Amino acid sequence: MADQALRRQVEALRLAIADHRYRYYALSDPTVSDAEFDTLMAELRALEERHPELDDPSSPTRTVGAPPAGPFAAVRHRQPMLSLDNTFTPDDLRAWFDRTERALEGAVVRYICEPKIDGVAISVSYVDGRLERALTRGDGREGEDVTPNVRTIDGVPGWLELGEAPPLLEVRGEIHYPLAAFEAMNAAREEVGEPRFANPRNAASGALRQKDPRKTAERPLRLICHGLGAHEGLPATAHSGFLEVIADAGLPVAAETQSFDDPEGVFGFVEYWREHRHDPDYEIDGVVVKVDDFGQRRRLGATSSAPRWAIAFKYPPEERETKLNDIFVNVGRTGKVTPFASFEPVVVAGSTLQLATLHNEDQAQMKDARPGDTIIVRKAGDVIPEVVGPVLGLRKPEVQAAGPWRMPTTCPFCGSPIQRLEGEAASYCTNIDCPNRLLESLAHFASRGAMDIEGLGYETAKALLEHKLVRNLAGVYRLTVEDVLQLEGFAERSAQLLVDGIQASRDRPLERLLVGLGIRMIGGTVARIIARRFGTMRAVREADEVTIAAVSGVGPIRARALRQFIETPRNAELIDELATLGVRMDSEAAKRDDTLAGWTVVLTGGLEGFSRDEAKQAVEDRGGKVTSSVSKKTSAVVVGTDPGTKAAKADQLGVPMLDEAAFVRLLETGALPD
Ligand code: IVH
Repeated sequence: MADQALRRQVEALRLAIADHRYRYYALSDPTVSDAEFDTLMAELRALEERHPELDDPSSPTRTVGAPPAGPFAAVRHRQPMLSLDNTFTPDDLRAWFDRTERALEGAVVRYICEPKIDGVAISVSYVDGRLERALTRGDGREGEDVTPNVRTIDGVPGWLELGEAPPLLEVRGEIHYPLAAFEAMNAAREEVGEPRFANPRNAASGALRQKDPRKTAERPLRLICHGLGAHEGLPATAHSGFLEVIADAGLPVAAETQSFDDPEGVFGFVEYWREHRHDPDYEIDGVVVKVDDFGQRRRLGATSSAPRWAIAFKYPPEERETKLNDIFVNVGRTGKVTPFASFEPVVVAGSTLQLATLHNEDQAQMKDARPGDTIIVRKAGDVIPEVVGPVLGLRKPEVQAAGPWRMPTTCPFCGSPIQRLEGEAASYCTNIDCPNRLLESLAHFASRGAMDIEGLGYETAKALLEHKLVRNLAGVYRLTVEDVLQLEGFAERSAQLLVDGIQASRDRPLERLLVGLGIRMIGGTVARIIARRFGTMRAVREADEVTIAAVSGVGPIRARALRQFIETPRNAELIDELATLGVRMDSEAAKRDDTLAGWTVVLTGGLEGFSRDEAKQAVEDRGGKVTSSVSKKTSAVVVGTDPGTKAAKADQLGVPMLDEAAFVRLLETGALPD
């Protein structure tokens, strides 16, 4: 593969993964299944292993979680909260045993196995026996301080019930929403017309992140502890002993935990829980196998993201059979035509499914599920439903005779031709005014990750368009209470609330607006980068493609998409119209940071925590300039590992030289070391 294309592929994977992590950890609103996420990670890991030259310390393969976001204070973990490496097959698990036992040079190894609970990771610290603080994982180094909320959780003791408490004990565990209570809550929500929570993990994450702890207290959250963080004076030399101590102290631990003297016992545990994974009152997505002895753990150590002394074995998603009723197509906001399957409702991993996307024409044809077929569906990671394929042995002759499904040639919403360009997987409705495109654009514009317009969901968007009250995105800002009252189901108060919600959304920062406009390939992460770099819509519109492409994390493909969007006259008009209607066109993130205004910095050698682009960006974000050669005008030279001749030149000219730590301090304070 050409170098450039490879680099781009790796960059795209890293960004996509960072985006998914942000949605999962910070927004509790993932858009891909765990299994799809794992596939992306595996792909990236394989590419990085084959091409060590593309190594980057900030790659998602070397980091965990997502940086804390939201209303909670970010607090540093005393000891980083790592993640776990995954295996999916007994062979991979065997390979882990071999590696582990080889590294321990034939010592006797005792393993301890636990269920892998699909909850929200938490670190709870006790100082002199008293609950000090509870932090979410965040990016593994810093988490969100959710102490008041965790205090409300039943079964989390405020004091350790020990005769003599250790000076410091940090326990790690999973906060989860018990399944029976989750089902009951969702049923109650449905009854009053509120949307269901997608899965128990999202419900737990949402309940834990309430600003008001009383709200958290209303939810029946539970904790199960499975790990040890920083500690002093703990009388345990192995995980089994640690679990005993904390159970005695009143902390909840998993009843399913079992120890084994050899790998065979572990395989038995894995198989037992594969069959029984739905027995406990929490979701189990695998088991975790750990080396019991702390001394052996120390010898094994950790990579930057996961310990070598533990491994997760993940079960494949649960599959069910059902009957395919039909295949429809939908037209999205970009005009893309997506086929999807509509089938008899079926309960998979705790929720009812009846629709699943088939992605595009090729995928649909490859799966070759036909209306009338018995099909297999699954819900990987309990987020996105998926059709695995038809059960061919059960296909009826008339279904066989009907032949494979074909993509329609005209749009079901406007009758315009559907077109598929050479070499592209996607098909498009050729009508740029297709009514369904506008519906999808409007629903997206109003959605949580975009302008977050309270009360403007899909159904309301549909009704507004059907009543011709809105003809383009800007139209929503002209809506009056009288307009809204024409819609079925709205009364004075609810109409006022919707209009208030719309007006309030005018104040969303630029990054939200960029997302809301639905520009191809510009999701939340990239929109934030762009908003931060350019600060105002005006600056974004004035920036040329090369300038945009040079922004770290954006790159040429997105730069082209953004320019194309801006240069399309009707988009430019839409942005002008939104501005005239008072929609905010700048970003908070970019409130000019001028810590380094007037500074000229030269970078030489490699840095641990920054790629070259990131270091440059960090200086530029603070109003400084980065140049490539050292002169008397240079304010400072940052000297990393294996520096070039620039270091010598700086020395000669008496320009201050900074190591990485001093550089970080400079970025924070704008000051040189004394
Ligand atoms: S031990 C150093 N044990 O799964 C990391 N983790 O995918 C040690 N998890 O970050 C983690 N059940 O939040 C461990 N029995 C268990 C677990 C468990 C769930 C979570 C944990 C971890 C994540 C990794």
